[in-house]
Amino acid sequence: SLLSLKEILDPAKDENFAVPAFNFFSFEDAKAIVRAAEELNSPVILMSSGSCVKNFGIETAASVMRNLAFNASVPVVAHLDHADNLELIFKAMHHGYTSIMYDGSMLPVEENIKNTQFVVKVAHSLGISVEAEIGRVAKGEEGESAEEILTTPESAKYFQDATGVDCLAVAVGTKHAMQSQKANIKFDNVEKISAIVKIPLVLHGSSGVTNEELDRIKNTKFAKINIGTVLRRTYIDEIRKTLKENPDLKDHLKLLQKSSMAVSEKVKEKICILKSDGKA
Ligand code: G3H
Ligand code: ZN
Repeated sequence: SLLSLKEILDPAKDENFAVPAFNFFSFEDAKAIVRAAEELNSPVILMSSGSCVKNFGIETAASVMRNLAFNASVPVVAHLDHADNLELIFKAMHHGYTSIMYDGSMLPVEENIKNTQFVVKVAHSLGISVEAEIGRVAKGEEGESAEEILTTPESAKYFQDATGVDCLAVAVGTKHAMQSQKANIKFDNVEKISAIVKIPLVLHGSSGVTNEELDRIKNTKFAKINIGTVLRRTYIDEIRKTLKENPDLKDHLKLLQKSSMAVSEKVKEKICILKSDGKA
């Protein structure tokens, strides 16, 4: 079934589990994610980021997620990840996304707040959830680098009160697109922000977070854990392995199916760590 982010996250924030949110880039990975969630009876968040939307187009990306959600035995959220373009955001709302991340982390705080307020006003009138970001989670090993701005507890509280967002992305030491690096999570900040903010928190760049740290994070106010890079790596590593083992392979469906299974296994691993299994 298709749900909004708020419906899925609110139960998770005060209980000792978190819901994983996965980036998908093709139909195969989207399907693999939902299948894994169904196998473990876990709610799940499908996220389409910029490159996903470029690949599918916003309307098709929406219908892929909505179709998978309607046919799933577990709650699925159709989420737009890291959007700073208001036109794209309103198109996503029009095509049936149930959740939007407005990302104003590159802007001065007051401008970020003003834009977030506007998105919240429109989204909430349509029953759509909004995530926004205060502070800034840095870009990782690839891509242009944006400096990290660690989120202070006061700014998180101020931003929450000023905007009325449903959940809040904060910077506590992770970086996007980490391949070999490990995150350096500031658990002090995690505790302080969790104590002062009422709404669920979102952890970005979780591919570089160890399972031990995820296990700890799930007991805090962090309720949405964004995972992208590690699934991409799983998918492509499996393609490489399959082609190496079967150099004469003719059927690309076999190739995709094997990679898909590997992605499902990785998704299940994260669901189990975050303890969202059985929470559907
Ligand atoms: O918004 C998406 C996430 O923050 C994904 O981060 O690709 O580093 O796992 P990641
Ligand atoms: Zn992110």
